[in-house]
Amino acid sequence: MKHGEHLPATGATPSPNIWHHADTYEVENRAVDRRGLIPAAMPRLVAEHGGTWGHVLDIGCGTGFHLPLWAERARRVTGIEPHPPLVEQARSRLASLDPALAGRIEVRPGTAQDLPVADHSIDVAHARWAYFFGPGCEPGLAELDRVMAPGGVAFVIDNDASSSTFGSWFRRAFPEYDPAAIARFWRRSGWTREPLLVAWETDTREDFEAIVRIEFTPGLADAILAEHPGTTVDYAVDLWWRTF
Ligand SMILES: C[S@@+](CC[C@H](N)C(=O)[O-])C[C@H]1O[C@@H](n2cnc3c(N)ncnc32)[C@H](O)[C@@H]1O
Repeated sequence: MKHGEHLPATGATPSPNIWHHADTYEVENRAVDRRGLIPAAMPRLVAEHGGTWGHVLDIGCGTGFHLPLWAERARRVTGIEPHPPLVEQARSRLASLDPALAGRIEVRPGTAQDLPVADHSIDVAHARWAYFFGPGCEPGLAELDRVMAPGGVAFVIDNDASSSTFGSWFRRAFPEYDPAAIARFWRRSGWTREPLLVAWETDTREDFEAIVRIEFTPGLADAILAEHPGTTVDYAVDLWWRTF
């Protein structure tokens, strides 16, 4: 490996699940929200606030799982990702798409704190389990102020650790995590919460076990899997949003 090759960009938040287990993270992405509550809520909120789907920015797009979904609605889609191997994987995904869809999508290396897009050029921004985790993400919020077009809508998707079975697992993993403090941060920053009870649903128990194991330490994953049978778990998420 050449020096610097495959090293994350400065300012990247380590994301061991997808950085080290991209294939299993793909299984996880396919398991999340199969009933489509998140992709139903976003267009509803955009429409309610008079927004458009001209240029969509996916911040921390990982392997680009959601990029085709945005391209079905938008004129242009830009995925931003700091981890070089994931930039490559997201670009490879484009090669497997219908060329008309892929032609509207671009993947660029970058971080939420230094977005490689022009001022006031973005109509919808989406960051899913990426960088925007509450206090500490102020530089990214300042970048959103710079890049969002007037009337644009930004979305952040993160765990609601205060409820659901998955939330209880998350609190066991991170006992110091304070969901109320995180919610206060977002409200103070001008964001509104849309609580959504989604689920992980996998095709097989093997897949379910694999995704539990990339999210939790081995000991906690063993305990969770011993007490929780089956292929599904209820999972509370917060869809935070604000207009610009
Ligand atoms: C848990 S993954 C989620 C990926 C993708 N949003 C998805 O739902 O499939 C978090 C992603 O955020 C990226 N990331 C880490 N630090 C970041 C930063 N400072 N700005 C933007 N993205 C970042 C990681 O490299 C990783 O791809």
